[in-house]
Amino acid sequence: METYSFEDFVGDRDVFFAEHFNKKPLLHKGALAGRLHDLPSVGQLDDLLALEVAPTSYLRVTKGGKGVPSSAYTRTVARGAALAEAVSADKVYELFRSGGTVTWNSLNHILPSTRRLTEPFADAFACPTEVVLFVTPAGNDGFAPHHDSIDVFVVQVNGTKTWKVWGTPQVRPGDEGSHTLEELGEPVIEVTLTPGDVLYVPHGTPHAAAANREMSLHLSVGVQPRRWRDLLRETVDAIVADEAFHGFPSLDGDQEPTAVTALAARLRLLQDRLAAVDPASEARRLAGTGRVRGGAARPREFERLSAADTLAPGAGVRRSAVPVQIGASDGARTSLFVKGHRLAVPDAVAAALRALESGPAVTAATFFPGVSETRSLRAAQGLARLGVLEVADEKRT
Ligand SMILES: [Fe+2]
Repeated sequence: METYSFEDFVGDRDVFFAEHFNKKPLLHKGALAGRLHDLPSVGQLDDLLALEVAPTSYLRVTKGGKGVPSSAYTRTVARGAALAEAVSADKVYELFRSGGTVTWNSLNHILPSTRRLTEPFADAFACPTEVVLFVTPAGNDGFAPHHDSIDVFVVQVNGTKTWKVWGTPQVRPGDEGSHTLEELGEPVIEVTLTPGDVLYVPHGTPHAAAANREMSLHLSVGVQPRRWRDLLRETVDAIVADEAFHGFPSLDGDQEPTAVTALAARLRLLQDRLAAVDPASEARRLAGTGRVRGGAARPREFERLSAADTLAPGAGVRRSAVPVQIGASDGARTSLFVKGHRLAVPDAVAAALRALESGPAVTAATFFPGVSETRSLRAAQGLARLGVLEVADEKRT
C-alpha cells in the first residue's frame, strides 16, 4: 500500500512552516501524480453506498449551495425490534444526477486507505485530522466563496476542479463564514486542479470551487491545530485527574465559609502542581496525545500477535516499553506483574528479562539460557504475546 510523507504534500517542510503554515495558501501541482491508486476511487464510492450499514451521519448531500435534509436520501429499516436509518443509494444517485454534491465526512473512520492518509498530517501537526471526500457532478457550481475554521489540504483524485483562493486575512475568528465575489476582489490563486495536485488552504482563507466537464472527486484533509487554550486545558485536565481533586463540595448555603477555604486550598494545590510541570516532557506528552486521536491511530495488535506466533529462533528480541514488575523468587520461579496479570516464570527467564532492560537484543533461541532452543523460543514467544518482548531485527531468521 502507498505510504505518503508530509513532504509529498507540501514540498520542503521548512519552507512550508516558514512561509505558508497559518499565513498563505500553497499550490503543489503534481504532488501525488501517479500515486493515487490506493486512494478512494469513484468505483469504491459505489461500494460504500451499497453497504447495508453505511452510517447515515457520515454522508451529506448539498445542492445549490444548501444542505439537502437527510430524509431525502435515507430510509427507515427494521433491525430486530428497533428502527434505524439506512442510506438509500438510489436516492443519493438521483440527487447527484440532478446536480448535488455528495460528501463523505470522516472517511478515515471507515476506509483504511484514508486513515493512512491522515498519518503524515497527524504526525506533523500533532492534532485531530479528518478526511472528507467530495464528489461533484460535471459542470457543477460547487461551493460559493466561503472560509472554514480548519486548515485544509485538498487532494484532487478524479476529474478536474477549478479553484479560486483569496489571501489569508491577518485576523481570523476561527469559525466559518461566507463571502461575495464583489467583496473579495482578485484571487491570489486561480487554478484547475488535476489528479495528483495538492492545494493548502489555511483556516479563515476564502475559497470557491467548481467542477468542469467531468465528475470531480477530491479529498480534503482537514487539520485542526490545537490553540494554546486547548493545550493548557489538557495539561490542567491531567493534573485534576488526581484524587486530591475528586471531592464534591457544596459552594453555597451554611457551608460557604468552609467551602471558600477549601477552594482556596485547591487553587493553591493546582498552582503548585502547575509550577511543578516540566515543560519539555509535557510538550512531548501533548504531542503524543495529539497524534493518537480517533480516526488517525492504527492499532497493530493482530499483526503483533501473528509475528509473535511465527517468531523464528534466530530473530532478535528486546524489551518493549511495556512496564514489567519483577517480583520475588520462591527459589525456582519468579513472579512477574504485567498489564494487570501476575505470572510465574523460571528464575533464569526473569534474569534474562532484567539483563535485557539495559543490554543488547538477543536471539529468541538463546533468550532463555541453559535450555533447548525450542524451549527458549517458546518462552520468548509467550513474553512477545504479552508485549513484554518485541522483535528487534525482522531480517534475521
Ligand atoms: Fe471549504
